[in-house]
Amino acid sequence: MERVNVLDFTTGKLELTTSVQERYLSDLIDYFAFKNEAEMILREKNPLIYKVYEMAYSGPGALSYAITEIEPGKVGNEYYFTKGHFHSKAAAEVYIVLSGEGILMMENRSGNTRTLNMFKGAVLYVDPEYAHRSINTGNEKLVFLAVYQSDAGHDYESIKERGFSYIVVDEEGPKIVKNPRSTKK
Ligand SMILES: [Fe+2]
Repeated sequence: MERVNVLDFTTGKLELTTSVQERYLSDLIDYFAFKNEAEMILREKNPLIYKVYEMAYSGPGALSYAITEIEPGKVGNEYYFTKGHFHSKAAAEVYIVLSGEGILMMENRSGNTRTLNMFKGAVLYVDPEYAHRSINTGNEKLVFLAVYQSDAGHDYESIKERGFSYIVVDEEGPKIVKNPRSTKK
C-alpha cells in the first residue's frame, strides 16, 4: 500500500507536501492598496499574511493541489489577501473552503470582475481566464483547498503592476470598493 496524504480539517495541515511557502507583509508591500499603512506596520513588525502547503505533481495531464491559510487582519482597512495571479495558460481551478470567511475576487484581462463568497463548505470554480485573489474578511484563518493543472503557470507580475480593479475593505463589515492604486484604464 502506498501512503495516503491526509488533511487535518481542523488545522488545514497536509501531512505530505512538496513545498511550504510563507508570505509576509514585506512580500506584499506592492500589493496592498494603502502602502503608507503597510510601511508603518513594517517599522514595528513583519506579520505573516498567508501560508501555502503544496503537493505538486508533474508530467502530462498532472494536477497539483494546495492548502492556503490566510491570517485574519488588515492593512489600513483593507483585509489580508493572497497576491493573486493569472494562470499563464488557460487553466481552471477548483477551491473548497475548509474554514473561515472571505471573498474570492476574480478579474479577467478586459477588467470584468466577479466575486464569490467563501465560507466553510463552499465549492468554487475559478474560470481559466480570470486572475484570482482570496481575501480573509473574518476574524479567524481562512483555509481552502485548491486543485489546479500542474503546468497552469502563475503570472503575478500583471497584478503587481496594475492591481485588481476592486479591493475589499472594512467599512463596518466587508465592502467591495474601487482600488485607488489600480492603474488599469
Ligand atoms: Fe491559481
